[in-house]
Amino acid sequence: MSQNDPVTITHKSGSSVTIYPYGAHITSFKTASGRELLFVSSSAKLDGSKAIRGGIPLVFPQFGQPDKSYPQHGFLRRNYWKAGLKEEGGDSSSCEFYLDLKDVETARGDGQWGKETKYDCRITLTVKILAEELTTIMKFDNTGAVPFDFQTLFHTYLKVAGGKALDPTSCNVSGLEGYKAEDKITGEEYVLGESPIIIDREVDRIYQNSSKPILSVVVNTGGQKVSLKAKASVDGKETPVSVVVWNPHIEKAKGMSDFTDEQYHDMVCVEPGVLYDVPSIENGKSAVFEQVITAL
Ligand code: BG6
Repeated sequence: MSQNDPVTITHKSGSSVTIYPYGAHITSFKTASGRELLFVSSSAKLDGSKAIRGGIPLVFPQFGQPDKSYPQHGFLRRNYWKAGLKEEGGDSSSCEFYLDLKDVETARGDGQWGKETKYDCRITLTVKILAEELTTIMKFDNTGAVPFDFQTLFHTYLKVAGGKALDPTSCNVSGLEGYKAEDKITGEEYVLGESPIIIDREVDRIYQNSSKPILSVVVNTGGQKVSLKAKASVDGKETPVSVVVWNPHIEKAKGMSDFTDEQYHDMVCVEPGVLYDVPSIENGKSAVFEQVITAL
C-alpha cells in the first residue's frame, strides 16, 4: 500500500465517499441514488506532486496568499495526513484524518517549518456520510504555547451536470441576498440583490454577512440542486461563515496546467470560509468548522 492510496467508505444505503491521504482530500461523494456531487479535473495530479484540482481541498491558515512566505491557500492540501477512526455499518458511516502541524515540513515555501511555532496545532478532519449527505468537520486544537490567527475554507468543487455551468437557468447559487459581495477581479464591492449568482464570466467573489453566522445556500448544479450549509466556532463561540464563488471561465482555464480548456463548463466552486474578524485560537483551545452538502 502506498501512502497516498485513497480510502473509500460506504454507507448501508449505497452512498460512498473517497478521500486521498494527500491533503485529506475528498475527491468523490456518490449518493445512494448514484449521483456524483463533486467535480475533479481529468488532468488533476493524484500522485502527491501538486494539490488535487477538484473535490474538497482544505484551506488553512490563509485564503489566497496574503503572506507570501506561505503557499497560496496554505499547506493542508500539500501534506500527507494520517488516517484515524473509521466506522461503517451504523446509521452513518465516517472516518477521520489528522495532521499534527509540528510534523509538517512543507508549510513554508522555503521548507523552514522547523523554526515555525505559529500554527502548532492538531487538525482533525471528520468525514461522515448518509444516503444523500456529506458532512465534513475540521477541528483545530491549539497544542502549542501561543495563540494564533487563521483563515480556513472548504474549497468545494461542485460538479455541474451536462456541462451547463454557463446556463443561468441550470446553474446558479441562491441564498445570499443581502450579503456584501467583493469582486476579486474588478475590485468592486456591493450588496447582493435577489437574483441568484450566475457564471457569465470569470467569477471570483467573496460574499460575507456578519449578521448571518450560519451559511445556507442552494446551488443548481445543472438542473439538480445541492444544499450547502456551513457553521463555525472558536472556543465554543459562533463565528460567521463567508463564501467564495469561483469559476475560472475561458482564459483562466487555459492557464491552468491541471484543468483542461473546457472544464469550466463542468464545475462551480462554492467555498464556505471563516475569513473575516476571526478570533485567535488561544493555546489549549480549539475551533470547529463544519460543512454539510445535501443532494436535493
Ligand atoms: C479560489 C480563489 O478560492 O481559488 C481564486 O478565490 C483561485 O482566486 C482559486 O484562483 C484556485 O486557486 P488554486 O490555488 O487552487 O489554483
